[in-house]
Amino acid sequence: MTQLQSLRGMVDLLPEQTRCWQAVESVARDHFRRAGLQEIRTPLLEVTELFARGIGEATDVVGKEMYTFVDRGDRSCTLRPEGTASVVRAALQHGLLSQGPQRLWYGGPMFRYERPQAGRQRQFYQIGVEYLGVGSPRSDAEVIALAWALLVDLGVQGLVLEINSLGTLQDRQKYREELVAWLEARSDQLDDDSRKRLYTNPLRILDSKNPAISELLQDAPTLFEALSVESKARFEEVQVDLEALQIPFQLNPRLVRGLDYYGHTAFEITSDQLGAQATVCGGGRYDGLVEQLGGAPTPAFGWAFGMERLMLLLEAAASINPNGSAARLTASTRPDLYVVNRGEQAERVALVIAHQLRAAGLVVELDSSGAAFNKQFKRAGRSRATWALVIGDDEAERGEARLKYLQEATTQANPIPIDQLHRLDDVTGLVRLVRE
Ligand code: HAM
Repeated sequence: MTQLQSLRGMVDLLPEQTRCWQAVESVARDHFRRAGLQEIRTPLLEVTELFARGIGEATDVVGKEMYTFVDRGDRSCTLRPEGTASVVRAALQHGLLSQGPQRLWYGGPMFRYERPQAGRQRQFYQIGVEYLGVGSPRSDAEVIALAWALLVDLGVQGLVLEINSLGTLQDRQKYREELVAWLEARSDQLDDDSRKRLYTNPLRILDSKNPAISELLQDAPTLFEALSVESKARFEEVQVDLEALQIPFQLNPRLVRGLDYYGHTAFEITSDQLGAQATVCGGGRYDGLVEQLGGAPTPAFGWAFGMERLMLLLEAAASINPNGSAARLTASTRPDLYVVNRGEQAERVALVIAHQLRAAGLVVELDSSGAAFNKQFKRAGRSRATWALVIGDDEAERGEARLKYLQEATTQANPIPIDQLHRLDDVTGLVRLVRE
């Protein structure tokens, strides 16, 4: 029988990786808690119309990348390609916005049918933040700062924050006309992709990865020049606030993002260590989306980062700096104690002791192989446990166990009374007991 495999672009997280992910998630949770955010969880499956209306028909995400199917009730359903539209839908459906501004975060799998490569999967995991009902330029800086502080705290290095303003809908319409006219005059120099986008989503041409197109666009009119006085002033304020927060940034007039709901501030955090998929975090302001999805006009700002890309960055940071916070997050855990045991009576005693010590808070690995002592000691070494607790039938008979420090090449193993073990609540207690 052939061995079944996971689908292309859908990746297993093995225990060691899962542990690193949990460490990152817990740092993120802590940042969100301190910023007063609340977690929201929405379904993976939504009606297709939510994304078509929310993200925009002309985007690659909606046009080419969605996992869409008709369910048994004849409804068109889509596996969520991102979280923002779902969060806004949920906030509207449950009347959250009538309770004042909502500061929300979420984490979970997203689905896009893209060509898989390093840092790009078909099922990937995002952690995101959405501030709904908050419209000041200051809030743009506040929410960007949240992403920046989290990434810095995780120990990720070589980050660059790029920002741009996409202005208002009118600003963009005006610019779109100018850009299309400019590109039409040079249509012979466009590639197929850009030619296709010329009338569907011309602003995305600015984001082209084709070096010839980037070169051509050097002289194109920029969106910044087309911004109204008010939009420019708003963007200035965001920049002043970022400077006050001492967050370094670069202006990128070509940054347009791949989803249609953005206006005013848009940003991306990139790293040169990620190769072609350089963006680890992206987001911006989306004041029109709530209305677009049937609610009252409501300002909003948010971002999401991709966990897979973040993990690539953490691995790189850990290998550059083995004592940094990224290395601590990616280091594997060691058990406090490895219980080496052999013999009929000893094995039952060991089972009970391991159970009691775990209840008291120690991380305990019980050898259940019944193998020879020297084999069990080898395994204890491989487990990187700090201590071994050794129980043979002789010890069990005497109501004793022997404690051996594994981090030094010592042969000494001190006897301790078994009936005292369950009163310990940490390794220090165990050590104290041995020394008494
Ligand atoms: P996005 O730029 O499409 O924005 O995705 C955000 C991040 O998700 C990317 O920067 C990247 O790290 C990760 N990502 C996207 N696609 C993939 C993929 N195929 N494989 C691996 N990672 C991927 C959004 O999704 C917006 N909802 C962000 C947002 C929230 N804007 C406002 N609020």
